[in-house]
Amino acid sequence: MTSNNANATNLPWVEKYRPKQLEELISHEEIIKTINKFIDENQLPHLLLYGPPGTGKTSTILACARKLYTPAQFNSMVLEMNASDDRGIGIVRGQILNFASTGTMYRSGYKLIILDEADAMTNDAQNALRRIIEKYTDNVRFCLICNYLSKIIPALQSRCTRFRFGPLQAEQILPRLNEVIEMEKVKVTEDGKQALMTLCGGDMRKVLNILQSTWLAFGSVTEETVYTCVGHPLPVDIKNIVNWLLNESYELAYCKIQDLKIKKGLALQDVLTELHVFVNKIDFPDSILMNLVVKMAEIEKRVAVGCSEAVQLNALVAAFQGAREIDTS
Ligand SMILES: Nc1ncnc2c1ncn2[C@@H]1O[C@H](COP(=O)(O)OP(=O)(O)OP(=O)(O)O)[C@@H](O)[C@H]1O
Ligand SMILES: [Mg+2]
Repeated sequence: MTSNNANATNLPWVEKYRPKQLEELISHEEIIKTINKFIDENQLPHLLLYGPPGTGKTSTILACARKLYTPAQFNSMVLEMNASDDRGIGIVRGQILNFASTGTMYRSGYKLIILDEADAMTNDAQNALRRIIEKYTDNVRFCLICNYLSKIIPALQSRCTRFRFGPLQAEQILPRLNEVIEMEKVKVTEDGKQALMTLCGGDMRKVLNILQSTWLAFGSVTEETVYTCVGHPLPVDIKNIVNWLLNESYELAYCKIQDLKIKKGLALQDVLTELHVFVNKIDFPDSILMNLVVKMAEIEKRVAVGCSEAVQLNALVAAFQGAREIDTS
Protein backbone atom coordinates (compact mmCIF):
# COMPACT_ATOMS: atom_id res chain seq x y z
CA MET A 1 0.00 0.00 0.00
CA THR A 2 1.09 3.58 -0.48
CA SER A 3 2.88 4.02 2.79
CA ASN A 4 4.81 7.26 2.61
CA ASN A 5 1.85 9.47 1.82
CA ALA A 6 -0.83 7.77 3.87
CA ASN A 7 -0.58 10.30 6.67
CA ALA A 8 -1.47 13.29 4.50
CA THR A 9 -4.88 14.12 5.89
CA ASN A 10 -6.33 16.80 3.69
CA LEU A 11 -5.72 15.13 0.34
CA PRO A 12 -8.61 13.65 -1.62
CA TRP A 13 -8.38 9.89 -1.32
CA VAL A 14 -7.74 9.47 -5.04
CA GLU A 15 -4.45 11.34 -4.62
CA LYS A 16 -3.65 9.99 -1.19
CA TYR A 17 -3.94 6.43 -2.47
CA ARG A 18 -2.47 7.00 -5.90
CA PRO A 19 -0.05 4.12 -6.53
CA LYS A 20 3.54 5.36 -6.18
CA GLN A 21 5.24 2.34 -7.69
CA LEU A 22 4.41 0.19 -10.67
CA GLU A 23 3.93 -2.81 -8.39
CA GLU A 24 1.14 -1.06 -6.50
CA LEU A 25 -1.09 -0.72 -9.53
CA ILE A 26 -3.94 -3.17 -9.66
CA SER A 27 -4.83 -5.04 -12.85
CA HIS A 28 -2.90 -4.52 -16.13
CA GLU A 29 -0.29 -7.09 -15.05
CA GLU A 30 0.89 -7.70 -18.58
CA ILE A 31 1.34 -4.02 -19.34
CA ILE A 32 3.21 -3.38 -16.10
CA LYS A 33 5.42 -6.41 -16.69
CA THR A 34 6.27 -5.28 -20.21
CA ILE A 35 7.01 -1.70 -19.21
CA ASN A 36 9.13 -2.91 -16.29
CA LYS A 37 11.11 -5.03 -18.70
CA PHE A 38 11.62 -2.09 -21.08
CA ILE A 39 12.98 -0.02 -18.22
CA ASP A 40 15.20 -2.76 -16.79
CA GLU A 41 16.76 -3.39 -20.18
CA ASN A 42 17.04 0.31 -20.87
CA GLN A 43 14.97 -0.07 -24.02
CA LEU A 44 12.03 2.20 -23.33
CA PRO A 45 10.17 3.02 -26.58
CA HIS A 46 7.83 5.95 -27.06
CA LEU A 47 4.62 5.02 -25.29
CA LEU A 48 0.97 5.61 -26.01
CA LEU A 49 -1.34 4.73 -23.12
CA TYR A 50 -5.05 4.86 -23.80
CA GLY A 51 -8.29 3.75 -22.21
CA PRO A 52 -11.26 4.97 -20.16
CA PRO A 53 -10.82 7.38 -17.20
CA GLY A 54 -9.62 6.26 -13.77
CA THR A 55 -7.85 3.11 -14.88
CA GLY A 56 -4.30 4.06 -13.94
CA LYS A 57 -2.70 5.59 -17.04
CA THR A 58 -1.33 8.72 -15.39
CA SER A 59 -0.35 6.75 -12.29
CA THR A 60 1.57 4.25 -14.42
CA ILE A 61 3.71 6.78 -16.21
CA LEU A 62 4.38 8.76 -13.04
CA ALA A 63 5.48 5.54 -11.37
CA CYS A 64 7.74 4.84 -14.36
CA ALA A 65 9.27 8.27 -14.08
CA ARG A 66 9.89 7.68 -10.39
CA LYS A 67 11.61 4.43 -11.22
CA LEU A 68 13.75 6.00 -13.94
CA TYR A 69 14.92 9.09 -12.10
CA THR A 70 15.95 10.04 -8.60
CA PRO A 71 13.98 12.87 -6.96
CA ALA A 72 16.89 15.22 -7.66
CA GLN A 73 16.83 14.40 -11.37
CA PHE A 74 13.08 14.48 -11.68
CA ASN A 75 12.56 18.16 -12.45
CA SER A 76 15.29 18.42 -15.04
CA MET A 77 14.51 15.13 -16.76
CA VAL A 78 10.72 15.01 -16.88
CA LEU A 79 8.39 17.40 -18.65
CA GLU A 80 4.78 16.73 -17.82
CA MET A 81 2.05 18.50 -19.71
CA ASN A 82 -1.67 17.99 -19.39
CA ALA A 83 -4.86 19.50 -20.66
CA SER A 84 -4.54 22.46 -18.34
CA ASP A 85 -1.54 23.61 -20.37
CA ASP A 86 -1.90 25.21 -23.75
CA ARG A 87 -2.11 22.44 -26.39
CA GLY A 88 -1.60 24.34 -29.61
CA ILE A 89 1.27 24.26 -32.05
CA GLY A 90 3.04 27.05 -30.16
CA ILE A 91 3.74 24.87 -27.17
CA VAL A 92 5.17 22.13 -29.39
CA ARG A 93 7.53 24.52 -31.14
CA GLY A 94 8.36 26.28 -27.90
CA GLN A 95 8.47 24.42 -24.64
CA ILE A 96 8.48 20.85 -25.98
CA LEU A 97 11.10 21.47 -28.67
CA ASN A 98 13.22 23.37 -26.17
CA PHE A 99 13.11 20.62 -23.61
CA ALA A 100 13.74 17.91 -26.19
CA SER A 101 16.64 19.62 -27.92
CA THR A 102 18.69 20.52 -24.88
CA GLY A 103 21.07 17.79 -23.73
CA THR A 104 20.90 16.05 -20.40
CA MET A 105 23.11 16.94 -17.48
CA TYR A 106 23.54 13.29 -16.72
CA ARG A 107 25.88 11.11 -18.69
CA SER A 108 23.49 8.36 -19.56
CA GLY A 109 19.76 8.14 -19.96
CA TYR A 110 17.12 10.09 -21.71
CA LYS A 111 14.54 12.65 -20.75
CA LEU A 112 10.87 11.87 -20.55
CA ILE A 113 8.12 14.03 -21.99
CA ILE A 114 4.67 13.09 -20.74
CA LEU A 115 1.81 14.47 -22.78
CA ASP A 116 -1.20 13.64 -20.66
CA GLU A 117 -4.67 14.03 -22.15
CA ALA A 118 -3.04 14.17 -25.58
CA ASP A 119 -6.42 13.84 -27.28
CA ALA A 120 -6.89 17.51 -26.42
CA MET A 121 -3.97 18.49 -28.65
CA THR A 122 -4.85 20.15 -31.91
CA ASN A 123 -4.10 18.29 -35.13
CA ASP A 124 -1.50 20.89 -36.08
CA ALA A 125 0.27 20.37 -32.80
CA GLN A 126 0.22 16.60 -33.28
CA ASN A 127 1.61 16.96 -36.76
CA ALA A 128 4.38 19.21 -35.50
CA LEU A 129 5.31 16.51 -32.99
CA ARG A 130 5.96 13.91 -35.67
CA ARG A 131 9.36 15.20 -36.61
CA ILE A 132 10.38 16.14 -33.08
CA ILE A 133 9.68 12.62 -31.85
CA GLU A 134 11.95 11.16 -34.51
CA LYS A 135 14.67 13.72 -34.41
CA TYR A 136 15.31 13.66 -30.69
CA THR A 137 14.82 9.94 -30.02
CA ASP A 138 18.42 9.71 -28.75
CA ASN A 139 17.70 12.20 -26.09
CA VAL A 140 14.02 11.92 -25.21
CA ARG A 141 11.20 9.43 -24.85
CA PHE A 142 7.65 10.58 -25.33
CA CYS A 143 4.65 9.17 -23.53
CA LEU A 144 1.26 10.14 -24.88
CA ILE A 145 -1.82 9.44 -22.78
CA CYS A 146 -5.39 9.72 -23.96
CA ASN A 147 -8.94 8.43 -23.52
CA TYR A 148 -9.81 8.27 -27.20
CA LEU A 149 -7.25 6.65 -29.43
CA SER A 150 -9.05 7.89 -32.54
CA LYS A 151 -8.15 11.48 -31.62
CA ILE A 152 -4.45 10.75 -32.02
CA ILE A 153 -3.29 11.04 -35.61
CA PRO A 154 -2.16 7.71 -37.15
CA ALA A 155 1.36 9.01 -37.75
CA LEU A 156 1.87 9.53 -34.01
CA GLN A 157 0.25 6.20 -33.17
CA SER A 158 2.70 4.42 -35.41
CA ARG A 159 5.68 6.03 -33.66
CA CYS A 160 4.62 4.70 -30.27
CA THR A 161 4.12 1.35 -28.56
CA ARG A 162 0.45 1.24 -27.63
CA PHE A 163 -1.04 -0.09 -24.42
CA ARG A 164 -4.75 -0.24 -23.72
CA PHE A 165 -5.87 0.21 -20.12
CA GLY A 166 -9.23 -1.53 -19.93
CA PRO A 167 -11.85 -0.89 -17.25
CA LEU A 168 -10.93 -2.57 -13.94
CA GLN A 169 -12.78 -5.72 -12.89
CA ALA A 170 -14.83 -5.69 -9.70
CA GLU A 171 -12.72 -8.44 -8.17
CA GLN A 172 -9.57 -6.40 -8.79
CA ILE A 173 -11.08 -3.26 -7.31
CA LEU A 174 -12.43 -4.94 -4.18
CA PRO A 175 -9.15 -5.72 -2.36
CA ARG A 176 -7.89 -2.19 -3.00
CA LEU A 177 -11.20 -0.74 -1.84
CA ASN A 178 -11.02 -2.84 1.32
CA GLU A 179 -7.53 -1.51 2.07
CA VAL A 180 -8.69 2.08 1.77
CA ILE A 181 -11.76 1.33 3.89
CA GLU A 182 -9.53 -0.13 6.58
CA MET A 183 -7.00 2.70 6.49
CA GLU A 184 -9.68 5.38 6.67
CA LYS A 185 -11.82 3.43 9.15
CA VAL A 186 -14.93 3.85 7.02
CA LYS A 187 -18.13 2.07 8.02
CA VAL A 188 -19.30 0.18 4.96
CA THR A 189 -21.94 -2.49 4.49
CA GLU A 190 -21.61 -5.28 1.93
CA ASP A 191 -24.40 -3.85 -0.22
CA GLY A 192 -22.66 -0.47 0.01
CA LYS A 193 -19.53 -1.97 -1.54
CA GLN A 194 -21.63 -3.68 -4.17
CA ALA A 195 -23.32 -0.38 -5.01
CA LEU A 196 -19.91 1.29 -5.41
CA MET A 197 -18.82 -1.44 -7.83
CA THR A 198 -22.00 -1.23 -9.84
CA LEU A 199 -21.87 2.54 -10.17
CA CYS A 200 -18.18 2.90 -10.98
CA GLY A 201 -18.13 0.89 -14.21
CA GLY A 202 -14.47 -0.07 -13.77
CA ASP A 203 -13.25 3.42 -12.85
CA MET A 204 -11.13 3.29 -9.68
CA ARG A 205 -11.13 7.06 -9.31
CA LYS A 206 -14.91 7.05 -9.26
CA VAL A 207 -14.96 4.33 -6.58
CA LEU A 208 -12.72 6.32 -4.27
CA ASN A 209 -14.47 9.61 -4.94
CA ILE A 210 -17.94 8.23 -4.29
CA LEU A 211 -16.69 6.41 -1.21
CA GLN A 212 -15.19 9.57 0.21
CA SER A 213 -18.12 11.84 -0.51
CA THR A 214 -20.69 9.34 0.76
CA TRP A 215 -18.67 8.84 3.93
CA LEU A 216 -18.35 12.60 4.48
CA ALA A 217 -21.97 13.35 3.69
CA PHE A 218 -23.73 10.48 5.45
CA GLY A 219 -21.29 8.99 7.96
CA SER A 220 -22.01 5.49 6.70
CA VAL A 221 -21.73 3.80 3.35
CA THR A 222 -24.71 1.64 2.45
CA GLU A 223 -26.49 0.92 -0.80
CA GLU A 224 -28.97 3.65 -0.04
CA THR A 225 -26.48 6.36 0.93
CA VAL A 226 -24.24 5.61 -2.06
CA TYR A 227 -27.06 5.87 -4.58
CA THR A 228 -28.49 8.92 -2.83
CA CYS A 229 -25.11 10.63 -2.75
CA VAL A 230 -24.66 10.41 -6.51
CA GLY A 231 -28.38 10.97 -7.21
CA HIS A 232 -28.70 7.65 -9.02
CA PRO A 233 -31.98 5.70 -8.81
CA LEU A 234 -31.89 2.81 -6.32
CA PRO A 235 -32.80 -0.65 -7.64
CA VAL A 236 -35.95 -0.47 -5.52
CA ASP A 237 -36.89 2.88 -7.11
CA ILE A 238 -36.59 1.32 -10.54
CA LYS A 239 -38.73 -1.60 -9.45
CA ASN A 240 -41.41 0.83 -8.29
CA ILE A 241 -41.24 2.80 -11.52
CA VAL A 242 -41.62 -0.34 -13.64
CA ASN A 243 -44.50 -1.39 -11.46
CA TRP A 244 -46.29 1.94 -11.92
CA LEU A 245 -45.62 1.99 -15.64
CA LEU A 246 -47.13 -1.47 -16.03
CA ASN A 247 -50.03 -1.32 -13.62
CA GLU A 248 -51.14 2.24 -12.91
CA SER A 249 -53.30 4.47 -15.04
CA TYR A 250 -51.54 6.96 -17.31
CA GLU A 251 -52.09 9.92 -15.03
CA LEU A 252 -51.17 8.17 -11.80
CA ALA A 253 -48.03 6.62 -13.27
CA TYR A 254 -46.86 10.01 -14.53
CA CYS A 255 -47.54 11.77 -11.23
CA LYS A 256 -45.87 9.10 -9.11
CA ILE A 257 -42.74 9.00 -11.22
CA GLN A 258 -42.55 12.77 -11.39
CA ASP A 259 -42.89 12.95 -7.59
CA LEU A 260 -40.16 10.39 -7.08
CA LYS A 261 -37.90 12.19 -9.54
CA ILE A 262 -38.30 15.45 -7.70
CA LYS A 263 -38.01 13.94 -4.24
CA LYS A 264 -34.81 12.09 -5.03
CA GLY A 265 -33.43 14.43 -7.65
CA LEU A 266 -33.22 11.70 -10.29
CA ALA A 267 -32.32 12.36 -13.90
CA LEU A 268 -34.54 10.82 -16.57
CA GLN A 269 -31.38 9.69 -18.35
CA ASP A 270 -30.35 7.49 -15.41
CA VAL A 271 -33.90 6.17 -15.00
CA LEU A 272 -33.94 5.19 -18.67
CA THR A 273 -30.60 3.42 -18.49
CA GLU A 274 -31.71 1.35 -15.51
CA LEU A 275 -35.19 0.77 -16.96
CA HIS A 276 -33.65 -0.65 -20.06
CA VAL A 277 -32.15 -3.55 -18.12
CA PHE A 278 -35.50 -4.24 -16.49
CA VAL A 279 -37.62 -4.00 -19.59
CA ASN A 280 -35.87 -6.90 -21.24
CA LYS A 281 -37.01 -9.12 -18.40
CA ILE A 282 -40.71 -8.25 -18.79
CA ASP A 283 -42.85 -10.91 -20.33
CA PHE A 284 -44.06 -8.93 -23.38
CA PRO A 285 -44.36 -10.61 -26.79
CA ASP A 286 -41.30 -9.81 -28.92
CA SER A 287 -43.09 -7.50 -31.35
CA ILE A 288 -44.35 -5.29 -28.52
CA LEU A 289 -41.02 -5.31 -26.72
CA MET A 290 -39.22 -4.25 -29.89
CA ASN A 291 -41.55 -1.35 -30.34
CA LEU A 292 -41.13 -0.28 -26.74
CA VAL A 293 -37.36 -0.45 -26.78
CA VAL A 294 -37.18 1.63 -29.95
CA LYS A 295 -39.41 4.25 -28.33
CA MET A 296 -37.23 4.30 -25.22
CA ALA A 297 -34.15 4.74 -27.37
CA GLU A 298 -35.76 7.71 -29.07
CA ILE A 299 -36.69 9.22 -25.75
CA GLU A 300 -33.14 8.78 -24.50
CA LYS A 301 -31.80 10.53 -27.55
CA ARG A 302 -34.18 13.43 -27.12
CA VAL A 303 -33.22 13.78 -23.45
CA ALA A 304 -29.57 13.72 -24.42
CA VAL A 305 -29.96 16.58 -26.88
CA GLY A 306 -31.71 18.67 -24.25
CA CYS A 307 -35.46 18.26 -24.75
CA SER A 308 -37.73 18.90 -21.78
CA GLU A 309 -37.62 16.10 -19.19
CA ALA A 310 -41.29 16.51 -18.33
CA VAL A 311 -42.38 16.04 -21.94
CA GLN A 312 -40.09 13.07 -22.37
CA LEU A 313 -41.37 11.48 -19.18
CA ASN A 314 -44.85 11.82 -20.63
CA ALA A 315 -43.65 10.10 -23.76
CA LEU A 316 -42.17 7.28 -21.67
CA VAL A 317 -45.40 6.69 -19.80
CA ALA A 318 -47.28 6.84 -23.09
CA ALA A 319 -44.96 4.26 -24.65
CA PHE A 320 -45.67 1.82 -21.85
CA GLN A 321 -49.41 2.50 -21.96
CA GLY A 322 -49.33 1.81 -25.69
CA ALA A 323 -47.48 -1.46 -25.17
CA ARG A 324 -49.96 -2.53 -22.52
CA GLU A 325 -52.91 -1.78 -24.75
CA ILE A 326 -51.58 -3.84 -27.62
CA ASP A 327 -50.70 -6.61 -25.19
CA THR A 328 -54.22 -6.93 -23.80
CA SER A 329 -56.10 -6.34 -27.07
N1 LIG B 1 -4.82 0.36 -11.71
C1 LIG B 1 -4.99 1.10 -10.58
N2 LIG B 1 -4.54 0.64 -9.40
C2 LIG B 1 -4.71 1.36 -8.27
N3 LIG B 1 -5.32 2.56 -8.22
C3 LIG B 1 -5.80 3.05 -9.35
C4 LIG B 1 -5.67 2.34 -10.59
N4 LIG B 1 -6.24 3.07 -11.56
C5 LIG B 1 -6.70 4.17 -10.97
N5 LIG B 1 -6.46 4.18 -9.64
C6 LIG B 1 -6.88 5.23 -8.68
O1 LIG B 1 -7.57 6.21 -9.43
C7 LIG B 1 -6.87 7.46 -9.39
C8 LIG B 1 -6.81 8.02 -10.81
O2 LIG B 1 -5.96 7.24 -11.62
P1 LIG B 1 -5.18 7.84 -12.86
O3 LIG B 1 -4.99 9.30 -12.67
O4 LIG B 1 -3.98 7.01 -13.07
O5 LIG B 1 -6.26 7.57 -13.98
P2 LIG B 1 -6.14 7.84 -15.54
O6 LIG B 1 -6.19 6.50 -16.20
O7 LIG B 1 -4.98 8.70 -15.82
O8 LIG B 1 -7.51 8.58 -15.82
P3 LIG B 1 -7.82 9.80 -16.85
O9 LIG B 1 -7.95 9.16 -18.19
O10 LIG B 1 -9.12 10.32 -16.35
O11 LIG B 1 -6.69 10.76 -16.73
C9 LIG B 1 -5.51 7.15 -8.83
O12 LIG B 1 -5.09 8.23 -8.01
C10 LIG B 1 -5.73 5.92 -8.00
O13 LIG B 1 -6.13 6.29 -6.71
MG1 LIG C 1 -4.85 10.74 -16.39
